[in-house]
Amino acid sequence: MKRRRGQISILLLVIAIFTAGFSGETMTEGGKAQVVDINRLNITIIYDNYAHDRRLKTDHGFACLIEGLDQTLLFDTGGNGSIFMDNLETLAIDPQQVDAIFISHNHYDHSGGLIRFLESNPRARIYIPRSASPSYDVIAEQYGARVVAVESPRLIDNHAMSTGEMKSSVIGEHSLVIPTDKGAVVVTGCAHPGICDIVQRAGDLTGRQVYLAVGGFHLMSDTRESIQNTISRLQTMGVKYVAPSHCTGREAIRLFADAFGKTFIQSGAGRVIRGGELSE
Ligand SMILES: [Fe+2]
Ligand SMILES: [Fe+2]
Repeated sequence: MKRRRGQISILLLVIAIFTAGFSGETMTEGGKAQVVDINRLNITIIYDNYAHDRRLKTDHGFACLIEGLDQTLLFDTGGNGSIFMDNLETLAIDPQQVDAIFISHNHYDHSGGLIRFLESNPRARIYIPRSASPSYDVIAEQYGARVVAVESPRLIDNHAMSTGEMKSSVIGEHSLVIPTDKGAVVVTGCAHPGICDIVQRAGDLTGRQVYLAVGGFHLMSDTRESIQNTISRLQTMGVKYVAPSHCTGREAIRLFADAFGKTFIQSGAGRVIRGGELSE
């Protein structure tokens, strides 16, 4: 009887895996994220290598605030705590309004501002890639912060999910995916696992093409030919808008601007990407 039950369980598991693969969507821990109205979504770049608003300080690193979901999410924290907190103040962003912090990967230019931020708001949950978790034990203990180690794709908010940790030769990293009525929005830190693979994963998770990709695409050491190839692949996958910055590299940013034309968004610290203003 026990053996029969075991065989049925295995059969059901195989059917579940087959069905998930057949529908082209990846299973997510906690279920699927609900679609959000793009008009509600605002992404504010807080920390970047480039300035959009000259009042803000620039530095190598990335951070942005995502509003319009059920919770307010802080994506990465830049590299320098003082610069990060100064930019928050200039943008009139109150640390208390942040419900959750999404750390894309454990490189200083994305996590360096975390401690200073926790001094103002230790209440926010912190999502980190699983491989980074030993480094966060002390933070969790010292600040009483709730740290969630992410391995597989999972819900972060009712309207947002993590891609799950994706490996690369450099480091494990996860990216944020938000399904909207226009398509998926994907936010990347450094995109070490490869921007094309991340976009592919975002599409698989949401069953939608990527409408907007924001963040560091890590192409600064790529040849011009390789960058052009990446741009072509993204366009073939249906990516509509791009807002590359941080480690994308100046040459690559220029090539994205040429290739995407009016759906290229010039990013940088202080830029607010309003979903309601994207009309394509
Ligand atoms: Fe980076
Ligand atoms: Fe990095």
